[in-house]
Amino acid sequence: MLFSRASDETAPVRPGGRDTHMIEAAKGTRDILPAEIARWQLVEARARETFALFGFREIRTPIFEATELFARGIGEGTDIVAKEMYTFQDRKGRSLTLRPENTAPVARAYIQHQMHRGSDVERLYYIGPMFRYERPQKGRTRQFHQIGVEAIGSDNPAIDAETLQMLMLFLERLKIPSLTLQLGSAGDETCRPAYRQALVAELTPHRASLCDDCRRRLETNPLRCLDCKVPADQALMAQVTPIFDHLCAACREHLGAVRAHLDRLGVRHVLAPRLVRGLDYYRRTTFEVTQPALGAQSALLGGGRYDGLVQELGGPPVAGFGFAIGQDRLVLCLPPDLEGFEDRLDVVVAPLGGSALGPALSAASRLRLSGKRVVLDPLPEKSLKSQMRRAHDLQARFVLILGEEEVKNGTFTLKRMADGEQRRGPDPDLLRTLSEMSHD
Ligand code: HAM
Repeated sequence: MLFSRASDETAPVRPGGRDTHMIEAAKGTRDILPAEIARWQLVEARARETFALFGFREIRTPIFEATELFARGIGEGTDIVAKEMYTFQDRKGRSLTLRPENTAPVARAYIQHQMHRGSDVERLYYIGPMFRYERPQKGRTRQFHQIGVEAIGSDNPAIDAETLQMLMLFLERLKIPSLTLQLGSAGDETCRPAYRQALVAELTPHRASLCDDCRRRLETNPLRCLDCKVPADQALMAQVTPIFDHLCAACREHLGAVRAHLDRLGVRHVLAPRLVRGLDYYRRTTFEVTQPALGAQSALLGGGRYDGLVQELGGPPVAGFGFAIGQDRLVLCLPPDLEGFEDRLDVVVAPLGGSALGPALSAASRLRLSGKRVVLDPLPEKSLKSQMRRAHDLQARFVLILGEEEVKNGTFTLKRMADGEQRRGPDPDLLRTLSEMSHD
């Protein structure tokens, strides 16, 4: 059998043998319906505007990449690579993976297109879907969307500070309340190995009580224990010596400079001494922004510095810094009264009777060419009452009524939905009347 059914093997089969059971979106994925799309488009528009102020330009990379890119980029010992990737073979047997994140793909594109030749710091942003095989719950899906940025080419702390300023400005413009920027450090190749050893020494006496994953991590990638999601382990991890206590002088100095610049730019933050994050490529700066309304999945976004990544992927030794916001979570946090959601229709054209359809098409066309949003449902047999109901459902501001009488006399009737006010006029006056009624 080519396909196996996900559920309900007893669903109806038509007499002709055709299977007619309803197919739903795959587990952990969802449709973003027209009623909510305005909020998605609004955050995307604000992101583009804000990022442009800082010279970031959009990049669109493929949805799937060679599996090796993620294994090398994110790290074999991470949860993402070990158990969350959608990996498949194509028809020629190549191993491909739906991107679980976009920092490694952007670094790959940076190298492939030799972007280091073009500018000292390449500032890029992306908006799009990512895929992780995780247990779905509120704020966590298997296909989710990220708005992310990467600034590649410099390890100067001013890059960290400016990019964080841009991030917080973006979130401020969306009026999201109660945000906390938590700033940490993942150390570097000088201080991290010693911290790793210290962590193993500290956790080994607790080995028996750790979850299976953490016992594995203790051997393969002990730092990953710090972002374990099992509550009992989390309680233990909150007690262990923080990486801050082991930072080398250079990492300390870098962190101090980032903080000084943030203060200068008025970007409020708190220190998070244990924030190392779940991907292996981070060096030095790490950060997350949390929002309490998100509950268990409180991380609205995360990011940091990844100074070794480009070289690890075969490129020049350039540093990088970036973040990715979970767009699904961001939309959940938007205040309901935020301005700019406007996607209302201006006019529903209601033809009544067969002879009204032609004039209705012409009127709708004229209105659209003048920039109005117009819907014409070609249902001349429907009553005025049902056309009005339809206009109400579509939240249109006006209904243009074209009945037999209007068609015969070359006139129109325009009704304002907000207060029921109605005006009649000769066809050529339509646009003027609409404009007058929109403003009074
Ligand atoms: P990340 O922390 O794995 O970092 O993901 C960033 C954000 O994506 C999370 O804070 C969360 O809002 C959202 N997210 C992750 N997984 C899911 C999911 N299953 N469902 C819904 N939302 C999710 C990265 O991906 C790094 N590439 C960020 C970065 C960019 N670092 C440097 N540059």
